[in-house]
Amino acid sequence: MSLKSVIVTGANRGIGLEFVRQLLAATPPPKHLIATSRQASNPELDQLRAKNSALHVLTLEVKNYESFAEFAKQVEQIVGTDGVDTLINNAGILINKDLQSVTADDMIQNFEVNTVSPLILTKALLPLLKVSAANRKTAVVNVTSKIGSIDDNTSGGIYPYRTSKTALNMVSKCLAVDLKPAAIKVIAVHPGWVQTDMGGPNALINTQTSVSNMIDTIKSINDSTLGDFLNYDGKPIPN
Ligand SMILES: NC(=O)c1ccc[n+]([C@@H]2O[C@H](COP(=O)([O-])OP(=O)(O)OC[C@H]3O[C@@H](n4cnc5c(N)ncnc54)[C@H](OP(=O)(O)O)[C@@H]3O)[C@@H](O)[C@H]2O)c1
Repeated sequence: MSLKSVIVTGANRGIGLEFVRQLLAATPPPKHLIATSRQASNPELDQLRAKNSALHVLTLEVKNYESFAEFAKQVEQIVGTDGVDTLINNAGILINKDLQSVTADDMIQNFEVNTVSPLILTKALLPLLKVSAANRKTAVVNVTSKIGSIDDNTSGGIYPYRTSKTALNMVSKCLAVDLKPAAIKVIAVHPGWVQTDMGGPNALINTQTSVSNMIDTIKSINDSTLGDFLNYDGKPIPN
Protein backbone atom coordinates (compact mmCIF):
# COMPACT_ATOMS: atom_id res chain seq x y z
CA MET A 1 0.00 0.00 0.00
CA SER A 2 1.33 3.39 -0.86
CA LEU A 3 -0.80 5.30 1.71
CA LYS A 4 -0.51 8.34 -0.53
CA SER A 5 -4.15 9.42 -0.51
CA VAL A 6 -5.96 8.37 2.65
CA ILE A 7 -9.31 8.93 4.37
CA VAL A 8 -9.81 8.19 8.09
CA THR A 9 -13.33 8.47 9.56
CA GLY A 10 -13.90 9.28 13.23
CA ALA A 11 -10.50 10.97 13.38
CA ASN A 12 -11.05 13.53 16.15
CA ARG A 13 -10.15 11.19 19.01
CA GLY A 14 -9.05 7.68 19.92
CA ILE A 15 -7.73 5.31 17.28
CA GLY A 16 -8.73 7.56 14.36
CA LEU A 17 -6.75 10.52 15.71
CA GLU A 18 -3.71 8.29 16.25
CA PHE A 19 -3.95 7.12 12.62
CA VAL A 20 -3.75 10.78 11.60
CA ARG A 21 -0.75 11.47 13.88
CA GLN A 22 1.22 8.44 12.69
CA LEU A 23 0.44 8.87 9.00
CA LEU A 24 1.58 12.51 9.14
CA ALA A 25 4.81 11.42 10.87
CA ALA A 26 5.53 8.73 8.25
CA THR A 27 8.30 8.99 5.66
CA PRO A 28 6.94 10.00 3.26
CA PRO A 29 3.66 11.28 4.70
CA PRO A 30 0.52 11.00 2.55
CA LYS A 31 0.13 13.57 -0.20
CA HIS A 32 -3.52 13.90 0.85
CA LEU A 33 -4.83 12.89 4.27
CA ILE A 34 -8.51 13.48 4.87
CA ALA A 35 -9.60 13.22 8.49
CA THR A 36 -13.32 13.28 9.18
CA SER A 37 -15.07 14.49 12.28
CA ARG A 38 -18.62 15.34 13.27
CA GLN A 39 -17.39 18.64 14.69
CA ALA A 40 -16.29 21.60 12.55
CA SER A 41 -13.58 22.42 15.08
CA ASN A 42 -11.33 19.92 16.91
CA PRO A 43 -8.40 21.23 19.00
CA GLU A 44 -5.95 18.43 18.18
CA LEU A 45 -6.85 18.07 14.49
CA ASP A 46 -6.77 21.87 14.08
CA GLN A 47 -3.24 21.99 15.55
CA LEU A 48 -2.05 19.21 13.25
CA ARG A 49 -3.63 20.90 10.25
CA ALA A 50 -1.86 24.17 11.04
CA LYS A 51 1.48 22.34 10.68
CA ASN A 52 0.65 19.95 7.82
CA SER A 53 -0.76 21.17 4.54
CA ALA A 54 -1.45 17.55 3.48
CA LEU A 55 -4.10 17.27 6.21
CA HIS A 56 -7.68 18.19 5.38
CA VAL A 57 -10.44 17.97 7.97
CA LEU A 58 -13.93 17.38 6.59
CA THR A 59 -17.14 17.25 8.56
CA LEU A 60 -18.93 13.91 8.34
CA GLU A 61 -21.74 12.37 10.37
CA VAL A 62 -21.51 8.78 9.21
CA LYS A 63 -25.24 8.16 9.76
CA ASN A 64 -26.07 10.97 7.34
CA TYR A 65 -25.96 8.82 4.22
CA GLU A 66 -27.59 11.54 2.13
CA SER A 67 -24.49 13.70 2.66
CA PHE A 68 -22.07 11.12 1.20
CA ALA A 69 -22.38 12.28 -2.42
CA GLU A 70 -21.44 15.82 -1.38
CA PHE A 71 -18.63 14.43 0.81
CA ALA A 72 -17.27 12.48 -2.20
CA LYS A 73 -17.28 15.71 -4.23
CA GLN A 74 -15.29 17.49 -1.50
CA VAL A 75 -12.80 14.61 -1.44
CA GLU A 76 -12.46 14.71 -5.23
CA GLN A 77 -11.63 18.41 -5.09
CA ILE A 78 -8.77 17.61 -2.71
CA VAL A 79 -7.32 14.45 -4.28
CA GLY A 80 -7.97 15.21 -7.96
CA THR A 81 -6.60 12.56 -10.33
CA ASP A 82 -4.79 10.75 -7.46
CA GLY A 83 -8.08 9.25 -6.27
CA VAL A 84 -8.20 7.54 -2.87
CA ASP A 85 -5.89 4.59 -2.21
CA THR A 86 -6.87 3.88 1.41
CA LEU A 87 -10.27 4.33 3.02
CA ILE A 88 -10.14 3.60 6.75
CA ASN A 89 -13.70 3.13 8.04
CA ASN A 90 -12.86 3.69 11.70
CA ALA A 91 -15.82 5.61 13.21
CA GLY A 92 -17.79 3.36 15.51
CA ILE A 93 -19.95 3.19 18.60
CA LEU A 94 -20.30 0.55 21.30
CA ILE A 95 -23.78 -0.21 22.60
CA ASN A 96 -23.27 -2.86 25.25
CA LYS A 97 -26.61 -4.46 26.09
CA ASP A 98 -27.33 -7.96 27.37
CA LEU A 99 -30.34 -10.14 26.56
CA GLN A 100 -32.44 -8.54 29.28
CA SER A 101 -31.76 -4.92 28.36
CA VAL A 102 -31.30 -4.93 24.57
CA THR A 103 -33.94 -3.12 22.49
CA ALA A 104 -34.69 -3.00 18.79
CA ASP A 105 -33.50 0.61 18.73
CA ASP A 106 -30.13 -0.37 20.27
CA MET A 107 -29.61 -2.91 17.51
CA ILE A 108 -30.56 -0.48 14.74
CA GLN A 109 -28.40 2.36 16.11
CA ASN A 110 -25.30 0.19 16.37
CA PHE A 111 -25.86 -1.29 12.91
CA GLU A 112 -26.30 2.14 11.35
CA VAL A 113 -22.92 3.41 12.51
CA ASN A 114 -20.82 0.24 12.50
CA THR A 115 -22.21 -1.72 9.55
CA VAL A 116 -24.39 0.32 7.21
CA SER A 117 -22.17 3.39 7.14
CA PRO A 118 -18.89 1.67 6.09
CA LEU A 119 -20.74 -0.06 3.24
CA ILE A 120 -22.58 3.02 1.99
CA LEU A 121 -19.55 5.30 2.36
CA THR A 122 -17.42 2.81 0.42
CA LYS A 123 -20.06 2.84 -2.34
CA ALA A 124 -20.03 6.63 -2.45
CA LEU A 125 -16.23 6.69 -2.74
CA LEU A 126 -15.94 3.84 -5.26
CA PRO A 127 -15.23 6.10 -8.26
CA LEU A 128 -12.28 7.66 -6.40
CA LEU A 129 -11.04 4.26 -5.17
CA LYS A 130 -11.18 2.99 -8.77
CA VAL A 131 -9.15 5.97 -10.04
CA SER A 132 -6.42 5.03 -7.57
CA ALA A 133 -6.67 1.27 -8.21
CA ALA A 134 -5.89 1.84 -11.90
CA ASN A 135 -2.43 3.06 -10.87
CA ARG A 136 -1.50 1.69 -7.45
CA LYS A 137 -2.51 -0.68 -4.64
CA THR A 138 -5.82 0.41 -3.17
CA ALA A 139 -7.72 -0.83 -0.14
CA VAL A 140 -10.72 -0.39 2.10
CA VAL A 141 -9.87 -1.02 5.76
CA ASN A 142 -12.84 -1.66 8.02
CA VAL A 143 -11.99 -1.32 11.70
CA THR A 144 -13.87 -4.20 13.30
CA SER A 145 -13.65 -6.05 16.61
CA LYS A 146 -12.68 -9.51 17.76
CA ILE A 147 -15.95 -9.33 19.70
CA GLY A 148 -17.59 -9.86 16.30
CA SER A 149 -15.97 -13.29 15.95
CA ILE A 150 -18.65 -16.01 16.23
CA ASP A 151 -15.91 -18.57 16.84
CA ASP A 152 -14.48 -16.53 19.74
CA ASN A 153 -17.84 -15.91 21.44
CA THR A 154 -17.93 -17.84 24.70
CA SER A 155 -19.57 -15.19 26.89
CA GLY A 156 -22.67 -14.06 24.97
CA GLY A 157 -24.23 -10.62 25.50
CA ILE A 158 -23.14 -7.29 23.97
CA TYR A 159 -25.79 -7.92 21.29
CA PRO A 160 -25.80 -4.60 19.42
CA TYR A 161 -22.03 -4.10 19.14
CA ARG A 162 -21.07 -7.73 18.67
CA THR A 163 -23.53 -8.37 15.85
CA SER A 164 -22.77 -5.05 14.14
CA LYS A 165 -19.11 -6.05 13.85
CA THR A 166 -19.94 -9.63 12.76
CA ALA A 167 -22.03 -8.09 9.99
CA LEU A 168 -19.23 -5.63 9.17
CA ASN A 169 -16.92 -8.62 8.68
CA MET A 170 -19.40 -10.08 6.18
CA VAL A 171 -19.71 -6.69 4.46
CA SER A 172 -15.90 -6.71 4.18
CA LYS A 173 -15.86 -10.16 2.59
CA CYS A 174 -18.67 -9.28 0.16
CA LEU A 175 -16.91 -6.06 -0.85
CA ALA A 176 -13.62 -7.94 -1.28
CA VAL A 177 -15.24 -10.41 -3.67
CA ASP A 178 -17.24 -7.78 -5.55
CA LEU A 179 -14.33 -5.34 -5.87
CA LYS A 180 -11.72 -7.94 -6.85
CA PRO A 181 -12.21 -7.23 -10.57
CA ALA A 182 -11.54 -3.55 -9.83
CA ALA A 183 -8.32 -4.50 -7.95
CA ILE A 184 -9.58 -2.94 -4.71
CA LYS A 185 -8.58 -4.93 -1.63
CA VAL A 186 -10.69 -5.07 1.54
CA ILE A 187 -9.78 -6.16 5.07
CA ALA A 188 -11.50 -6.09 8.46
CA VAL A 189 -8.93 -5.33 11.17
CA HIS A 190 -9.30 -5.65 14.95
CA PRO A 191 -7.31 -2.87 16.66
CA GLY A 192 -6.80 -4.83 19.88
CA TRP A 193 -8.31 -3.82 23.22
CA VAL A 194 -7.14 -0.22 23.14
CA GLN A 195 -7.01 2.57 25.76
CA THR A 196 -9.54 5.02 24.32
CA ASP A 197 -12.89 6.40 25.48
CA MET A 198 -14.42 3.21 24.08
CA GLY A 199 -11.79 0.74 25.31
CA GLY A 200 -11.44 2.35 28.77
CA PRO A 201 -8.33 2.77 30.93
CA ASN A 202 -7.88 -0.96 31.65
CA ALA A 203 -7.43 -1.87 27.99
CA LEU A 204 -4.35 -3.90 27.12
CA ILE A 205 -2.59 -1.62 24.62
CA ASN A 206 -2.31 2.08 23.85
CA THR A 207 -3.33 3.75 20.59
CA GLN A 208 0.31 4.07 19.46
CA THR A 209 0.91 0.30 19.56
CA SER A 210 -2.45 -0.49 18.00
CA VAL A 211 -2.10 1.94 15.11
CA SER A 212 1.57 1.30 14.29
CA ASN A 213 0.77 -2.41 14.01
CA MET A 214 -2.36 -1.75 11.94
CA ILE A 215 -0.38 0.45 9.54
CA ASP A 216 2.12 -2.43 9.07
CA THR A 217 -0.82 -4.79 8.52
CA ILE A 218 -2.34 -2.44 5.93
CA LYS A 219 1.03 -2.20 4.17
CA SER A 220 1.21 -6.00 4.00
CA ILE A 221 -2.06 -6.29 2.02
CA ASN A 222 -1.21 -8.37 -1.05
CA ASP A 223 -2.76 -10.13 -4.01
CA SER A 224 -4.10 -12.99 -1.87
CA THR A 225 -5.92 -10.64 0.56
CA LEU A 226 -9.68 -11.18 0.18
CA GLY A 227 -11.81 -9.75 2.96
CA ASP A 228 -9.50 -11.15 5.64
CA PHE A 229 -10.42 -10.69 9.34
CA LEU A 230 -7.09 -9.77 10.93
CA ASN A 231 -5.76 -8.87 14.35
CA TYR A 232 -3.88 -5.55 14.54
CA ASP A 233 -0.60 -7.47 14.24
CA GLY A 234 -1.73 -9.11 11.00
CA LYS A 235 -2.57 -12.53 12.44
CA PRO A 236 -5.86 -14.01 11.14
CA ILE A 237 -8.86 -14.17 13.49
CA PRO A 238 -11.41 -16.96 12.97
CA ASN A 239 -14.79 -15.70 11.83
N1 LIG B 1 -10.95 0.76 21.75
C1 LIG B 1 -11.06 -0.54 21.61
O1 LIG B 1 -10.67 -1.32 22.50
C2 LIG B 1 -11.64 -1.13 20.35
C3 LIG B 1 -11.66 -2.53 20.24
C4 LIG B 1 -12.16 -3.09 19.08
C5 LIG B 1 -12.61 -2.29 18.05
N2 LIG B 1 -12.59 -0.93 18.20
C6 LIG B 1 -13.10 -0.14 17.08
O2 LIG B 1 -12.15 0.85 16.73
C7 LIG B 1 -12.83 2.00 16.17
C8 LIG B 1 -12.38 3.27 16.89
O3 LIG B 1 -12.68 3.09 18.27
P1 LIG B 1 -12.08 4.04 19.43
O4 LIG B 1 -11.66 3.13 20.51
O5 LIG B 1 -11.13 5.02 18.87
O6 LIG B 1 -13.44 4.73 19.89
P2 LIG B 1 -13.72 6.20 20.46
O7 LIG B 1 -12.55 6.70 21.21
O8 LIG B 1 -15.05 6.09 21.15
O9 LIG B 1 -13.87 7.08 19.12
C9 LIG B 1 -14.93 6.81 18.24
C10 LIG B 1 -14.81 7.73 17.05
O10 LIG B 1 -15.91 7.45 16.16
C11 LIG B 1 -16.62 8.66 15.92
N3 LIG B 1 -18.05 8.44 15.69
C12 LIG B 1 -18.93 7.74 16.44
N4 LIG B 1 -20.16 7.82 15.93
C13 LIG B 1 -20.05 8.61 14.82
C14 LIG B 1 -20.99 9.08 13.87
N5 LIG B 1 -22.29 8.76 13.93
N6 LIG B 1 -20.53 9.87 12.85
C15 LIG B 1 -19.23 10.20 12.76
N7 LIG B 1 -18.30 9.80 13.65
C16 LIG B 1 -18.71 9.01 14.66
C17 LIG B 1 -16.41 9.49 17.18
O11 LIG B 1 -16.74 10.84 16.93
P3 LIG B 1 -17.36 11.81 18.11
O12 LIG B 1 -16.17 12.31 18.91
O13 LIG B 1 -18.05 12.88 17.35
O14 LIG B 1 -18.29 10.96 18.93
C18 LIG B 1 -14.94 9.21 17.43
O15 LIG B 1 -14.16 9.99 16.57
C19 LIG B 1 -14.34 1.71 16.32
O16 LIG B 1 -14.85 1.24 15.11
C20 LIG B 1 -14.37 0.62 17.38
O17 LIG B 1 -15.51 -0.20 17.29
C21 LIG B 1 -12.12 -0.33 19.31
